Amino acid sequence: MNAEMPIGTHLETSETAYLRAPKLNRHTFWCGQSGSGKTYALGVVLEQVLLHTHLPLVILDPNSDFVHLDSPQDSASEEAAAQLASRDVRILRPSSPGDRHLQVRFVDMDIRSRAAVLQLDPVLDAEEYNAMLRVGAEYTFGDDRGLATWLENHEDPLLRRLALRLQNLGVLEWDMWAWGGRDATDVINELPDATVVDLGGFDSAAQLQASALAVLDRLWAQRHERTGRLVVIDEAHNLAAPDAGTPLARALTERIVQIAAEGRKYGIWLLLSTQRPSKLHPNVISQCDNLALMKMSSTRDLDELGQIFGFAPSELLERSPRFTQGQALFAGGFASEPQLVQMGERLTREGGSDVPIGLR
Ligand SMILES: Nc1ncnc2c1ncn2[C@@H]1O[C@H](COP(=O)(O)OP(=O)(O)OP(=O)(O)O)[C@@H](O)[C@H]1O
Ligand SMILES: [Mg+2]
Repeated sequence: MNAEMPIGTHLETSETAYLRAPKLNRHTFWCGQSGSGKTYALGVVLEQVLLHTHLPLVILDPNSDFVHLDSPQDSASEEAAAQLASRDVRILRPSSPGDRHLQVRFVDMDIRSRAAVLQLDPVLDAEEYNAMLRVGAEYTFGDDRGLATWLENHEDPLLRRLALRLQNLGVLEWDMWAWGGRDATDVINELPDATVVDLGGFDSAAQLQASALAVLDRLWAQRHERTGRLVVIDEAHNLAAPDAGTPLARALTERIVQIAAEGRKYGIWLLLSTQRPSKLHPNVISQCDNLALMKMSSTRDLDELGQIFGFAPSELLERSPRFTQGQALFAGGFASEPQLVQMGERLTREGGSDVPIGLR
C-alpha cells in the first residue's frame, strides 16, 4: 500500500489527486457551507485511510452520517469492496442491541465532566460541586448504579443532594450508561480499524455531549500510551462551540480545546468539520495544520480562514465561492502542495442523507 491516498482529480488537469496519509498526524480543519459536500468528501478520505493505513479512526458522528462505513456500495470496484469488507469497522449506535449498543461509563469520566453532567457550576453551586469532587476520591466501587445507591444512602446531606440531582435531571434513565459493563472506549481500545460512535438519535443534546465527552475523557486519560489515532468529528460545532451555554457543553469544548493544544504529541489527532470557522472555538482552529475548504460564499469567513491558514494561497481561497458540490481546496502538510480537487466517489454507503421530498 501507498502513503499517497487517491481522493479525486485535480480541477485543472483532471489528473488523480492525492493526500499524504502520514501527515494526518496533525490536526485538520474541514470547512464549507451546508450542502457543499463536506460529509460526502470526508467519507471519501476516511475510506482511503481505511484502505491505505493502519491508523485507527474514531469517528464521532452527530448526524449518523457514517453508520454504513462498513458497507461497500455496489458501484465500488471488487478489489476495493473486498478490502473494505475485510477492515474491522465497529458501528456503535444508541439503538443497536448487544455489543453494538453505544454505551459509556459515568464513573470513568473525568470528575469535572461528571459535575458537568449534573449541571453543577463550580462557582454558583460551590458546595455541591465540591462534594462532587470528593466523590471522586471516596467512591471506589467502580460501578455507576452502585454510585447512585451509595450517594442516596450517604450520611453527608450534600452527597444525598447529588443523588437527588441525578434523579431530577433524569440522568440515571439515560440509555447510554454502561453501568459496570463494556463501554465505547473499551471497543476503541481493541484497536479496530474504525469505530463509529453514532451520536445521532439521542433524545437530548446532553446525552450526545455526555457520550462524546466520556469517550474523549478516556482517550485523554490514556494519552501517555501514545497510540496514534485520528479522532474525526463531523458537525464539530455540536461539540466544540465557542459559545457553549451549559456546563456540559463547556466541559466538552474545553476537552477538545485541550486535545487540540496538546494532543498531537500524544498521538491524538483531530479532524474537525463544520460550516464556518466562527462556529468552532478559535483555540481549536488555530491548532490545525491541514485545511480542507469546500464551497463557502461568505467573504468574511474566507478572510478569517486566510488569516488563520497563512499557508493557503489567497488566490485559491478566493475560488471557493465558485466551487460546485464536491470541489475542495486542500492545503497544509497533507497536500504535497495547495491543490484544488474534484472529489471522487464514495465506496461505502452514505448514512443520514437529506430529507427527500415526495414527488407527485
Ligand atoms: N461529490 C459528490 N458526489 C455526489 N453527491 C454528492 C457529492 N458531495 C455531496 N453529495 C450529495 O449532496 C448532498 C449534500 O452533501 P453533504 O451532506 O456531504 O454536505 P455537507 O457539506 O456535509 O452539508 P451539511 O453542512 O449540511 O452537513 C448529499 O446528499 C450528498 O450525497
Ligand atoms: Mg455534513
